Amino acid sequence: MTIDTTPEAELPETGVPVAETAATLIGTGGEWWRSAVIYQIYPRSFADSDGDGIGDLPGITSRLTALSELGVDAVWLSPFMTSPQHDAGYDVADYCDVDPLFGTLADFDLMLARAHELGIRVIVDLVPNHTSWDHKWFQEALAAPEGSPERDRYMFRDGLGPNGDEMPNNWESVFGGPMWERTTRPDGTPGQWYLHIFDKSQPDLNWENPWVRERFHDILRFWLDRGVDGFRVDVAHGLIKEEGLPDYTPPADAGSMGGGATAGDSLVGLEPGIDAHASDDPPTPPYWAQEGVHEIYRGWHAVLEEYEGDRVLCAEAWVEPLTKLARWVRPDEMQQAFNFTYLSAGWSAPELRAVIDNSIYAFGTVGAPSTWVLSNHDVVRHASRLALGAENLQGAGIGPKSPGLPDPVVGLRRARAATAVMLALPGSAYIYQGEELGLPEVIDLPDSARQDPTWFRTNGEKYGRDGCRVPIPWAAGTPTYGFGPATSTSSWLPQPTDWDDLARASQEGVESSTLELYKRALALRSQNDLGTGELSWLEGYGPEVIAFRVGSVTVIANLGATPVELPVEPHLGDVLLSSEPLTEAALPTDTTVWLRA
Ligand code: GLC
Repeated sequence: MTIDTTPEAELPETGVPVAETAATLIGTGGEWWRSAVIYQIYPRSFADSDGDGIGDLPGITSRLTALSELGVDAVWLSPFMTSPQHDAGYDVADYCDVDPLFGTLADFDLMLARAHELGIRVIVDLVPNHTSWDHKWFQEALAAPEGSPERDRYMFRDGLGPNGDEMPNNWESVFGGPMWERTTRPDGTPGQWYLHIFDKSQPDLNWENPWVRERFHDILRFWLDRGVDGFRVDVAHGLIKEEGLPDYTPPADAGSMGGGATAGDSLVGLEPGIDAHASDDPPTPPYWAQEGVHEIYRGWHAVLEEYEGDRVLCAEAWVEPLTKLARWVRPDEMQQAFNFTYLSAGWSAPELRAVIDNSIYAFGTVGAPSTWVLSNHDVVRHASRLALGAENLQGAGIGPKSPGLPDPVVGLRRARAATAVMLALPGSAYIYQGEELGLPEVIDLPDSARQDPTWFRTNGEKYGRDGCRVPIPWAAGTPTYGFGPATSTSSWLPQPTDWDDLARASQEGVESSTLELYKRALALRSQNDLGTGELSWLEGYGPEVIAFRVGSVTVIANLGATPVELPVEPHLGDVLLSSEPLTEAALPTDTTVWLRA
């Protein structure tokens, strides 16, 4: 089928054919990361070479060809450094070594070399906000007297009240419960308290201390010397706390990682660049998005510049509005920041359009590309999230008793359509392992299997993030779907029993599969230079549709409940890609098409 997408045909009734937008602001420095598709590997759940039920570096190396065939430009690896694993590796005890669970530094070097051989760049995760309580810096701090230089590496404070029994302030941990833990002196009496934004096993570093800053420059150089292409920076909005650590109570509907409670809907109807939160946003929490973080990243930028080639820093910063987040990617700071406003947008055409417009505008004002992301290891997978019937705050997860559980068929259909929009957008896109297989969130994990600290710290009130972290299926018919060796029978989180059809090998070469949709989209994105293109909106398809053009490709997505008529003209346009089969000259509900313009 071919469809006429000439401006006349697009505009049955009103409007200007092509609306120019802030898209023209997108930076064009030519660096690879501006348009890269970056695949997130969650090492525990990617491929297990030794059969202990946990993925590892040799497992990753053995599976890299699958990612090369998928067509990604780079991989980002969640932490594989030495760690007691109280937060799945985001509690680092040695930044410059590999945890034996995942292998050795030699295994890392082999993995890196193999990736580079395949033309895949490698980004590693850096966790600077906190260390593990097993880190020798923290152990030294605990052993040292109050007020010592060792203690000054972390956020130790005296308690309030006559005996110091009360916490230094009222802050609540992202994972639930208080943000403070009391220490015990060598003589057994209660001592000072230390701050931990996350679990008590993750004490926050004191980033006002130059010693801490210098150590992280060393850590950056350690990995850059080994040849990594960049870093994903964990909690990049948390390092500096407001002076005096004043009490703070977030609004009940605020996301636990910061940012506004709302996503794209608050942007609808606004001109790009308007600060939707200017008047009604709660004050900046004293532990998020403090001005002082920027100086740190300017220092890191300079460290990266000591190295040849284009290296990248990508901020995990839950900051809204987008115009504020753009400060993380000013020319002398980081290169990218995850666009969580985009991730949090609802399944609504006006919302999606507003977020896309505002993103390109906001990042464009500082010469940075926008990133686009729909899933990661901290949020409900988008094949489930986009069909949720109830609000779900980041990190809360879903489980058997959650309200508004998603219809998996609707979820997958929307996920495919959403991905087909995302992969056409100019800028850099992040894919989370398993989304290319259409994996849903695993909702019915047994309580006894759950491992996320959120689950424990909220006494099961929040399910947490385990449901998006279940090991991915490679092949049908084996106990771990090829995640582990043939002899292995289990994985660290149990896999559902009905994943045979979702396994990579089952989808390979099957035209209608989600895997083939991703492959086709990535190949077309690259052939048509969509990542570096300019976006212009197409009008006239109605309120439930977004339609835009990037380079020579027209993208039309129907987010509404009824099919949308498309004018058909056999010789004028080719369907390059469709997230669902097209049988007539109408775009079905929850479907995206790419057409040759
Ligand atoms: C980031 C990570 C998350 C982790 C937290 C604490 O948000 O993505 O998985 O739990 O930081 O390090």
